[in-house]
Amino acid sequence: METVKIDLNKETDDSYDIFIDSFLFDGLADELKRKPAANSYAVITDSNVGKIYGKKLLKNLQDDEINSHLISFSAGEKSKSRKTKERIEDEMLRLGLGRGTCIIALGGGVVGDLAGFVAATYMRGIPYIQVPTTLLAMADSSIGGKVAVDTPHAKNSVGSFHQPKKVVIDINFLKTLPKKEIANGLAEIIKHALIKDKDFFHFLEKNIDGILKCDLEALKQAIKRSCEIKADIVAEDEKEKGLRKILNYGHTIGHAIESALKYGISHGEAVAVGMCCAAKLAAKKGFLDEGSVIRQNNLLDHAGLPHKLSHHKLKPKIILERIKYDKKIINGRINFVLLNSIGNAFVSDDVTLEDIKKILEEQ
Ligand SMILES: NC(=O)c1ccc[n+]([C@@H]2O[C@H](COP(=O)([O-])OP(=O)(O)OC[C@H]3O[C@@H](n4cnc5c(N)ncnc54)[C@H](O)[C@@H]3O)[C@@H](O)[C@H]2O)c1
Ligand SMILES: [Zn+2]
Repeated sequence: METVKIDLNKETDDSYDIFIDSFLFDGLADELKRKPAANSYAVITDSNVGKIYGKKLLKNLQDDEINSHLISFSAGEKSKSRKTKERIEDEMLRLGLGRGTCIIALGGGVVGDLAGFVAATYMRGIPYIQVPTTLLAMADSSIGGKVAVDTPHAKNSVGSFHQPKKVVIDINFLKTLPKKEIANGLAEIIKHALIKDKDFFHFLEKNIDGILKCDLEALKQAIKRSCEIKADIVAEDEKEKGLRKILNYGHTIGHAIESALKYGISHGEAVAVGMCCAAKLAAKKGFLDEGSVIRQNNLLDHAGLPHKLSHHKLKPKIILERIKYDKKIINGRINFVLLNSIGNAFVSDDVTLEDIKKILEEQ
C-alpha cells in the first residue's frame, strides 16, 4: 500500500479585538479606508436597522470611494432561516462579489448570526466584521464566532464556527433601541454574571435602574464586563468541547420554548424563563440555596424579564419534545447547566427529562 499524508497540522491565529465606545459608527468608513479589510464590502442588515443606520453607512463608504453594497432583509427572528441566507447569497453573486469581499454585519443578533453564517460559507469562507446594534448583540452574540440559522425543527440547528475580524461596539446605537430590547439583552448580561462573576452580579443589582434608563456609562461597563467574560470562556474553549457549554445556562429550556412558539417570543425572555427553571432545579437537587434563587429571580424581575410562561399556552410535553430534538440524551439524562452559587456554573449530567418535566409542570 502507498500512503500519501496530507499534513494539515498548522497553527492559525484567529484573535481579534472588540472596540467599545461612543461614535465609533461615524468613523467606521474612514477607518476602513485607512486600513482596508477587503477590496469590497457587503453591508448586511435588517429592515429596521437598514433604515436608521444602513443607508448612512453605505453613503459614508461610497463617499470614501469604497466599493460597497447594502443588502437588507425583513427584521425578526423568523428571517434567521436558510431561505434568507440563500437570498442574500444569490444577491451577492448577482452583484459579482468575490473572495475579496468582507461582510459588515450591521444589526442585532439575528443579523450577526445570519450574516456571519453567510460569511462562513460564501466562496468557502470570507471575512466579516460585527457591528452590533442591540444590547444583546453587543454583550453576547457578536462575540465568539457561533453563526447559524434556525430551522422549523430547532434553533441554530444549521451553522458553523466562524470568527469575525473585529467587533465594533458603538453604544450610541442603544439610543434608538426599543425599551423591550434592553430587557432582552439584559437576560444574557445577567446570565454572564450568574455563571462567572458574583461581583458583576452585584454591580448589576446596584445599577439596574440606570441601565434601564439607558445610562450610557452604566451600559458601557456592563457591556465591557460581559464581553470579557464571554471572551475568556471562548478563548479557553472555542469549539464548545467543555467549558463553553456553561454559556448555555437557561438555554436548553429557552431554545425549546422559542422553537415551540415558532420564534414568537424574544430570545432574552425565553432564556430568562429557562434560567428560572434551571435555578429551581438546582435548588431542588441541593446544589443552590433558596436565597440565591430569589436573588437571581429578583434581578430578572427588575430587568422586566419573565419567570414563567403563564401567558403562553405551552404544554411541558411540547417543550420536552423540542429538548429531545436539540440535545444528546444518554439513558434519559441530559447535559444541563446548573449553578452552585451566584457566579459559579457547572455542567451536570445528572438531570433527567423527568426532572425537567416536573419543573415545567410546577411553573
Ligand atoms: N451567536 C451567539 O453566540 C448568540 C448569542 C446570543 C444570542 N444569539 C442570537 O441572537 C438573536 C437575537 O438577537 P437580538 O435580540 O439582537 O434580536 P434582533 O436582531 O432581532 O433585534 C431585535 C430588534 O431590534 C431592532 N434593532 C436592532 N438594533 C436597533 C437599533 N439600534 N435601533 C432600533 N432598532 C434596532 C431589530 O430590527 C429587531 O427588530 C437570536 O437569534 C439568538 O439566537 C446568538
Ligand atoms: Zn442566548
